[in-house]
Amino acid sequence: MELSYKKQNCTQINEEYIGKDCILAGWVSTVRDLGGIIFVEVRDRSGLFQVVADPQINPQVYEKFQQLRSEFVIQVSGKISKRPDDTINDKLKTGMLEMYPDNIEILSKSIALPFVLDDEDVSEEVRLKYRYLDIRREKMLSNLTLRHKIVAAIRNYLNKEDFLEVETPNLTKATPEGARDYLVPSRVHDGKFYALPQSPQIFKQLLMVGGIEKYYQIARCFRDEDLRADRQPEFTQVDIEMSFVKQDDVIKMAEGLIVDAFKAAGVEVKAPFKRLTWKDAMEKYGSDKPDTRFGLELFDVSDIMSASTFEAFKSVVEKGGTVRAIKIPGIASYSRKEMDDVRNLAISFGAKGLAWVTYMEDGTVKSPVFKFLTQEQIDEIQKRADAQKGDIVFFVADAHKVVFDVLGRFRLYFGDRLGLIDKSQHDLLWVIDFPLFEYSQEEDRYVSVHHPFTMPAYEDLDKLETDKANVKSIAYDVVYNGNELGGGSIRIHDPEIQEKAFKALGLSEEEIQNKFEFMINAFKYGTPPHGGIALGLDRLVALLVRANSIRDVIAFPKNAQAKCVMTQAPSEVSEEQLRELHIKLRNLPKIH
Ligand code: AMO
Ligand code: AMP
Repeated sequence: MELSYKKQNCTQINEEYIGKDCILAGWVSTVRDLGGIIFVEVRDRSGLFQVVADPQINPQVYEKFQQLRSEFVIQVSGKISKRPDDTINDKLKTGMLEMYPDNIEILSKSIALPFVLDDEDVSEEVRLKYRYLDIRREKMLSNLTLRHKIVAAIRNYLNKEDFLEVETPNLTKATPEGARDYLVPSRVHDGKFYALPQSPQIFKQLLMVGGIEKYYQIARCFRDEDLRADRQPEFTQVDIEMSFVKQDDVIKMAEGLIVDAFKAAGVEVKAPFKRLTWKDAMEKYGSDKPDTRFGLELFDVSDIMSASTFEAFKSVVEKGGTVRAIKIPGIASYSRKEMDDVRNLAISFGAKGLAWVTYMEDGTVKSPVFKFLTQEQIDEIQKRADAQKGDIVFFVADAHKVVFDVLGRFRLYFGDRLGLIDKSQHDLLWVIDFPLFEYSQEEDRYVSVHHPFTMPAYEDLDKLETDKANVKSIAYDVVYNGNELGGGSIRIHDPEIQEKAFKALGLSEEEIQNKFEFMINAFKYGTPPHGGIALGLDRLVALLVRANSIRDVIAFPKNAQAKCVMTQAPSEVSEEQLRELHIKLRNLPKIH
């Protein structure tokens, strides 16, 4: 039998094929020897089909079937027949059909697998080591298939909207997205390095200077940062840039794209999505990526606390900090131990302490901080919280960032613990009016919240030098069920404003020239107003398939230590390679 690319797909075979000659090829999924007759399920990308060998019917074929083991690769040919009624398998798409092949070819044998393919309890480390086997699992195949469909829908949408897909380099100069760069040493230029792009940000803006007007790219980005379930060192963005646009144009375009991408995954969502200012998002939800599928909104009690005699809280407010609160319903009966756990949780989130008021079921109200408050202040807290019997109100006092972070995480924790999150909802929203800068304690200067090319709000331009903390930006993030799906901004296209923005970031003339000279120069040759957005493709797909980690929607991801456990990358290189690259290691690796 010739190897035939003209094979049928297993699940393409239906009743119309009965009596017809077919060729099937794939992996041996299961082998069952039932008293002399051997049943084999063949699996290809489309699914399963049962083939049978009976020594009475075809002794040669039967002999070959006896050699079959799991995951052998075979090709069979023969007529399709209907199974006897009592052997029909309802669970299989092709469960009413089978083939008694005339021919079987063993194309490749398999040694015993390190794990059973449909075993759900295999550790991720093992799955990643044998990723090529893991990909044979139905779940991985369906994740990768859906990823493909989503990308196809996205390309389709953008092509229809007249975007051009343009590729940008991976061996380049550092792009300032706030993470560490991956560097590539140059062999040709002694002592010099390329950086892998953290995003195509600079190039896509230069494409606007180049007159492309509407650009997109399914772009690989590289960031050396601490990894989490939703972060990989290399990941994919749907990267978009448009000329002659305002914020609303980019948002509208992105909404259309997201609606189509969700549709490709079988999820109907409606545009326009709601919008929240960054300030509201922080004040109500303690997060710039709020999950608004449930309430538990934060509220401000700084005014009450600063009028009290509670020195710890008063001094926080005096120093420019804040005291905020959250009401958690129905937990007043928590034991002492449970309250200790809650307090420790707050401290693990970064709080210095946790204060509370308990509204007992019997109508009494207890709090370790009441001794510092007047009855009026106590009443005002209850009113603001709309607290009922059974509720507890928690307070955290600290710098704004800490308070929002702790209470925002508290909110998510209790939302989940109390089952308040309606998991069937698709909560899509925009966060707008981000601040342009945030103060970095580490660097003791203001840094960009997004990147340094983000346009300041027009009305705040004169605050760039005088009041950095209060400059808003024309930047927007799109959030899905409490996850940041993407973000973008209108860019600075005026070299003068760009220079001011660089200076506000504390960059010296020399640094500006060194890092961005080519960009500043380019902008002097006629630059259209422009803006764009980038969506995290891995996150989008992972959320739509409800995967726990973006690793589940990437064919060959790195593990949480940024390692590829299959290839063992990163790995040592030879002395010769290092010499060619003009590199001398500070600590020579141990040779194993
Ligand atoms: P930003 O840095 O917000 O914007 O990135 C856009 C989106 O990319 C995804 N993302 C990641 N996904 C997986 N692993 C990572 N390590 C990772 N980092 C980011 C997120 C994020 O929302 N150039 C700008 C966009 C622009 O202004 O147009 C940018 O890169 O979903
Ligand atoms: P103290 O008088 O320091 O014992 O504090 C009284 C209560 O306030 C205790 O329950 C502390 O945990 C709590 N507390 C102290 N500092 C803070 C803070 N920064 N934020 C929230 N609660 C605090």
